[in-house]
Amino acid sequence: MSIQTVDHFFNPSSKEFIHDPVPTLEKLCAEYPVSRFDAWQAWLITGHANIIKCLLDTRLSTDFNLWEYAPPKKPLEEMDAFEKLMNNNLFFLDRKNHLRLRKLALPAFSPRIMEQMKERFSVLVKERFDEIGSPNSFNFAAEIAEIVPTQAIASLVGIPRDKFPIFDSLAYGVVRGINPMLTPEERKEAIKGVPEGLALLNELIDERRANPGDDFLSTLILAEDQGSKLSNLEMCALVGAVLGAGSDTAVDLHSYLIKNLLQHPDQFELLKADPGLVQGAISETLRYESSGKTGLARYASEDLEINGNHVKKGQMVQLITSTAGMDSSIYNDPRKFDIQRDHDKSISFGQGPHYCIGVTLVRSQTEVMLKELFKRFPDLTLGSEIVYDYNHHNARRMDVMTVNTNLD
Ligand code: HEM
Repeated sequence: MSIQTVDHFFNPSSKEFIHDPVPTLEKLCAEYPVSRFDAWQAWLITGHANIIKCLLDTRLSTDFNLWEYAPPKKPLEEMDAFEKLMNNNLFFLDRKNHLRLRKLALPAFSPRIMEQMKERFSVLVKERFDEIGSPNSFNFAAEIAEIVPTQAIASLVGIPRDKFPIFDSLAYGVVRGINPMLTPEERKEAIKGVPEGLALLNELIDERRANPGDDFLSTLILAEDQGSKLSNLEMCALVGAVLGAGSDTAVDLHSYLIKNLLQHPDQFELLKADPGLVQGAISETLRYESSGKTGLARYASEDLEINGNHVKKGQMVQLITSTAGMDSSIYNDPRKFDIQRDHDKSISFGQGPHYCIGVTLVRSQTEVMLKELFKRFPDLTLGSEIVYDYNHHNARRMDVMTVNTNLD
């Protein structure tokens, strides 16, 4: 069987793709279920059913160290603070350690803690809008989307308000430091805030150990599984994983949700008439305007076949989840933005052993933001300027998205 390749038309860094990925995603989904993409030295898997099959296949691991081109693992004593953090990151652990850490972390995302968080988000979001005030227009991407998600995680972790800037630098380091395209100097610059951020986290963990409450960190400290507990480094790495997985993704969700609602006034009217549709609007945004340029990476732990293609041990497989949203065998008229769709089959938050643990948090945080935005600016319209960050390593990030408040 001959192997299909996609390098001749797939370029997720191109301006064309960043502005409108849909035609490419549709083509990938319809014509290239399994292909090679030499630019990433990876297999690409597309379409809803194929991706789910791979997400559930235990021979496909998230453990980066299995990759045929992974650099040799350094001994622990030679790792810097950032490398130690990544070495314990949920995404890069082997199966056994991942399972243990995930089990210990889950109680910290319980409905009780998520309910506590909703009130805190509400305070933070109100403060942010108070700072913005009542301008004629403002840059939603920079003034809300870039700020609110990291603040939400800071508040989940229990970072005091005056220490948010230190936490921001940690978040920046964790999100940008993993970009494999950085030069050593750029990487050093990106992660320079990591040691101070970790010192702050360790201080907080020690405080909570002495004085446990019923918050996120205390729950992690008290969590126990068959005599096993989380170490300080594992807790820091978990916060790192939450920042890596939950800040950047939520930035784009905030921007694209508002962009889509303002570009589809009929859907916006539906939402105003029935605020209960807000979660549908969030799911539909993730389906219709998936912001990622890459997919979910997996590494073959042994030789295997995917749809008749021979994948060798150590090869990388990229699951292009954004194509699942354009799969016409699952979604009727996929090009239509429809907040009333059924999203039961959505895989925007993954599926299987790595299913997103922040899903309730991000849904509630986004809902709080959306309600406050339209309470303050009920006649909001999209402004004339959208500027993309063409150099963002893995997202179709908007740096500028102006909105007009139409207050007078
Ligand atoms: C729109 C926002 C978000 C999207 C679209 C999203 C999506 C995902 C997806 C697709 C996965 C599975 C990754 C894989 O299988 O390789 C995942 C995992 C994860 N997510 Fe989210 N996520 C979001 C927000 C968040 C937030 C806010 C948090 C934390 C507060 C979070 C924490 C995590 C963690 C820790 C994992 C790894 C779980 C594991 O490996 O067991 N995510 N997310």
